[in-house]
Amino acid sequence: MTRVFQLLTPAVLLAAVSLAAVPLATPSAALAQGSLNVYCSVQAEWCQAVANEFQRQTGTRVALTLKGSGETLAQVTAEAANPKGDVWFGGTGDPHLAAAEQNLTVAYKSPNLDKLHDWARRQAEQSGFKTVGIYAGALGFGYNPELLQKKKLAAPTCWKDLIKADYKDEIQIANPNSSGTAYTAVATIVQIFGEDDAFRYLRQLHRNVNQYTRSGVGPIKAVARGETSVSISFMHDVVTEALAGFPVKVQAPCEGTGYEVGSLSVIKGSRNLEGAKKFVDWALTAPAQKLGADSKQFQVPSNREAQLPREAPRFADIKLISYDFAKYGASAERKRLLERWEREVNSQPK
Ligand code: F6P
Repeated sequence: MTRVFQLLTPAVLLAAVSLAAVPLATPSAALAQGSLNVYCSVQAEWCQAVANEFQRQTGTRVALTLKGSGETLAQVTAEAANPKGDVWFGGTGDPHLAAAEQNLTVAYKSPNLDKLHDWARRQAEQSGFKTVGIYAGALGFGYNPELLQKKKLAAPTCWKDLIKADYKDEIQIANPNSSGTAYTAVATIVQIFGEDDAFRYLRQLHRNVNQYTRSGVGPIKAVARGETSVSISFMHDVVTEALAGFPVKVQAPCEGTGYEVGSLSVIKGSRNLEGAKKFVDWALTAPAQKLGADSKQFQVPSNREAQLPREAPRFADIKLISYDFAKYGASAERKRLLERWEREVNSQPK
């Protein structure tokens, strides 16, 4: 399986991994073979590294399904009566909190909780221990300086810059229904400007957006390929593309910005609850968290002993807002904001 994946692009890999997970997703298979169905919402390289290493250390077979944060929440919700997944690894914290509130995930107090940064433990406490923080990352912009220069456009430095007429059709952001990155962006803009001004802003931004992608990393990959000038992305995802040699630069918005506490949850109805708990204990250790940086993913790890990757954007250098996870992680608020975005932004002509 691994050999095949090395030959595939992340997009193809996403589809391939989802398909590969199907035969293992039957409850009897999971039980009989001591396997674990992991729904994974970080980039494919990291998911695969986590699956390989946990499998190597424990002998538990890991089947991966790769989907964005919003899409995984929708899948776990749809499967509630007949759960197929055991754990949900990664993705923005808001949908994990919504899943916790809807009793789609179960409480588990790992003995490794006290090894975590406060922000990661807070995520656990806030959810009644139904989820826990595994990493953090700040939202910002990515841009392609070569493309901007060709078009005689300045690099954006503030949220307000992105709605200037100059950027017509130059910007990509994901769809907040499927993507936690984009939901974090909507919630961030609401928290910075106030809700009504935020929706006025999002409607103006709509004119400059050439595509709402399904996955949160789609826009920065398009910037890297020179298909769009600017993306709204997690800053660590911009760093990944820059280090891969693409002409991209990262910017923290001048007004301040929101952030994610990427999370990990055990799915209610898991057929391998012991295996799922073992996976959580392991994923909270420093060596397991190092697999992120090893896979060129530069979020801030939640284990205090895990080294902050040298390349990771430094939170101390970024003007962070005090993101209200309780409010924006609540299912009713999430649903309301997404419906308003659909009605007032996405369905509007450009
Ligand atoms: O894996 C990169 C990443 O940006 C994570 O930091 C984040 O939790 C996840 O992607 C969000 O993905 P999406 O926006 O597709 O839900």
